Amino acid sequence: MSKKDSGTRAIPVRHSVDGLSAYLADKPEEPSEAIRLCFNENLYGPSPGAVKAITRFAGKVHLYPDPGGWNLRETLAKKHGVPAEQIILGNGADSLITLLSSTFLDPGEEVLFCTPTFPIYESAARIAMGTPVALPLTRSYQFDLNGLRDAITSKTKLIYLCNPNNPTGTVLPPRAIETFLEEVPEGILVILDEAYVDFMDAEKIPPICKWISRDLPVISLRTFSKAYGLAGIRVGYALAAPEIIQALYRVREPFSVSSLAIHAAVGALSDHPHYQKVTDAIKRERERLQKALADRDLFYIPSQANFIFVDFERDSQEICRVMRKNGVLIRCSASWVMPTWARITIGPPEANDALLQALDKTLEII
Ligand SMILES: Cc1ncc(COP(=O)(O)O)c(C=O)c1O
Repeated sequence: MSKKDSGTRAIPVRHSVDGLSAYLADKPEEPSEAIRLCFNENLYGPSPGAVKAITRFAGKVHLYPDPGGWNLRETLAKKHGVPAEQIILGNGADSLITLLSSTFLDPGEEVLFCTPTFPIYESAARIAMGTPVALPLTRSYQFDLNGLRDAITSKTKLIYLCNPNNPTGTVLPPRAIETFLEEVPEGILVILDEAYVDFMDAEKIPPICKWISRDLPVISLRTFSKAYGLAGIRVGYALAAPEIIQALYRVREPFSVSSLAIHAAVGALSDHPHYQKVTDAIKRERERLQKALADRDLFYIPSQANFIFVDFERDSQEICRVMRKNGVLIRCSASWVMPTWARITIGPPEANDALLQALDKTLEII
């Protein structure tokens, strides 16, 4: 197509942006009433405490938010038992991943992770002109700590561990992560992406604040999008040593977290019974769904998150297409390089019943 045909001036993008595609930016074709078990959202919805806070502060959005977000940081500091100086807020954990690259990555420096995993690690590295280095997961679908250790070079700067990993739902033993952190050469930062930590069994949760206090080179990413049901308002945070947090705040856009997001998150944190009820219910439903998948002779990876990764042993694009016709959206992605697998978000019992019905109908004809 010529410049004239396209109707716009063709401005060349930066080399690092060549080859990147937009994340799910196409207009969706699915019927709007379909059940969304494709985005790892929390279909129980936000806490009434969060909704009340949003409503209460809606009339005040002519004022800029507090750039430091101190109200939320101090609430989080109490929750984690750390000083507020060890916490940074972001417009979702996504924005913190981009911020990590902008703050720490020089052109040509390497970012290590295993794949399949959350795709933003790779795109954020590329945008910052870093070099993504992707290793395969182990045979048990976990991040390969030995492989990552061996892949470290003098150019390595950031290493991502997605724990639980999206899309496999697998976790690493805390002791193995701790040893990895102890052995990582100086000058490398390990990013523990804990977006789904709230769905883990308690004994498997890494003692991240203890590691930070021991000065291990780690930062934990958290989000209000999953267990707290606030994906639409965009708020996440990171926990790390004050020096790392200060460096990130030097680069972060000053007003990147909206006042409504800050108040909603404080409201959500104040409603612990809702959080407990929802996370317990999702864990219970995870057990039920895993058993239902096994009863159907479907192979799945035991999950520690609010989703389950399933091998349909046939083209999963086709499975997803027929499931959509049957009223339930589940997720497959070319970027996972596992063409027979799909990821199913765990919803409330009625949504999961609908999922199983749609699955039975789908498997009858495919
Ligand atoms: C592993 C992982 N990290 C980070 C995020 C980003 O979360 P947020 O909604 O806070 O940007 C997601 C979102 O799905 C995720 O799966």
